[in-house]
Amino acid sequence: QRFNQESLNFLSAFANNAAIAIENARLMSQLRQENIQLRQEVQERYRFSEIVGNSTSMQEVFDLLNKIVNSDISVLLEGESGTGKELVAKALHYNGPRREKPIIAQFCGNLAESLLESELFGHKKGSFTGAIRDKKGLFEVADGGTFFLDEIADIPPLIQAKLLRVLQDGEIRRVGDTEIRHVDVRIISATNRSLEDQVEAGQFREDLFYRLNVISIKMPPLRERKGDIQLLVQHFLDTFSIRSGVPVKKITQAAMKALENYNWPGNVRELENTLERAVVLSQDRPITLESLIIPKARELAGGKKTLKEHEKEIVLRSLEEYNGNKTKTADALGVSLRWLHYKLAEWRETEPAE
Ligand SMILES: Nc1ncnc2c1ncn2[C@@H]1O[C@H](COP(=O)(O)OP(=O)(O)OP(=O)(O)O)[C@@H](O)[C@H]1O
Ligand SMILES: [Mg+2]
Repeated sequence: QRFNQESLNFLSAFANNAAIAIENARLMSQLRQENIQLRQEVQERYRFSEIVGNSTSMQEVFDLLNKIVNSDISVLLEGESGTGKELVAKALHYNGPRREKPIIAQFCGNLAESLLESELFGHKKGSFTGAIRDKKGLFEVADGGTFFLDEIADIPPLIQAKLLRVLQDGEIRRVGDTEIRHVDVRIISATNRSLEDQVEAGQFREDLFYRLNVISIKMPPLRERKGDIQLLVQHFLDTFSIRSGVPVKKITQAAMKALENYNWPGNVRELENTLERAVVLSQDRPITLESLIIPKARELAGGKKTLKEHEKEIVLRSLEEYNGNKTKTADALGVSLRWLHYKLAEWRETEPAE
């Protein structure tokens, strides 16, 4: 009897291990596949075409982006909150030669110096209370990739000095360590305050400023490129529809007009949020003025209007109020139905919204 209990035990243990190994291999390949898919999704999300804008000021931004996307040049992104600085930083990374390597973003505003230092540069075990083991800094994690320094204007002096080393020589030193390490990172930084003013005020090192600011891109505020609003609205409505698998939401002309008149202190982010809210509030109907929650005062302050524009707004508002019923609208406004038809045709010709 060659085949005894022992060999049976051995064989079944072997078979079990083999099964686990095969299953692991299958899981690994599935994970790898998912990883590739995720990376593709991220890359698509940050294609240049996802940055919407047709205005002259945005065309200038695109021109610059195309020129610098394949270089390692340091870029400073300046612009108010919500103007797309982070979006541009990611687009530069995911469209450039470093796309297969990580992009690491670090918020630098209002962080304690020691915390920020240990985050960026890492630390040696025992270098301060709580440093229970050696820790890699984020610059090391980003090696080969891109580092996005967000809110750079607030960086404290000690870290400014260490940053200069990174930019000049690609060198970092972990807190409490003597060893110098080399990293290869492309630096993109962002600020919503003027870094130049900070330099003048003595808050920011001039030499670091010049290193960071090899190229500066000024992201224009939305109120200075109102011509892009319609495009952005369409872009966000399309995106929401793809994301939630429902048909693209329509928006009335009056609502579009109100969006175009508003001042957008929170820029594109505020527009995106406003639309997201409106989509929910309007349920399965088009987005109307009523479903837009934007401050009235600013909406009206958004530019002087001619009598003709007031006329159009009043008419379109009433039309919306009466759910598009022209007879009732004409009645309410004290005009003839003929006049209303005439006006609507005229507006349709000059401005093909919706
Ligand atoms: N030109 C644009 N086209 C499409 N989406 C945009 C555009 N600009 C900004 N966005 C979107 O608006 C939101 C805010 O953009 P982002 O986070 O890049 O702004 P930011 O300048 O970094 O703002 P903050 O200074 O507040 O950090 C994001 O959801 C972004 O995708
Ligand atoms: Mg940002």
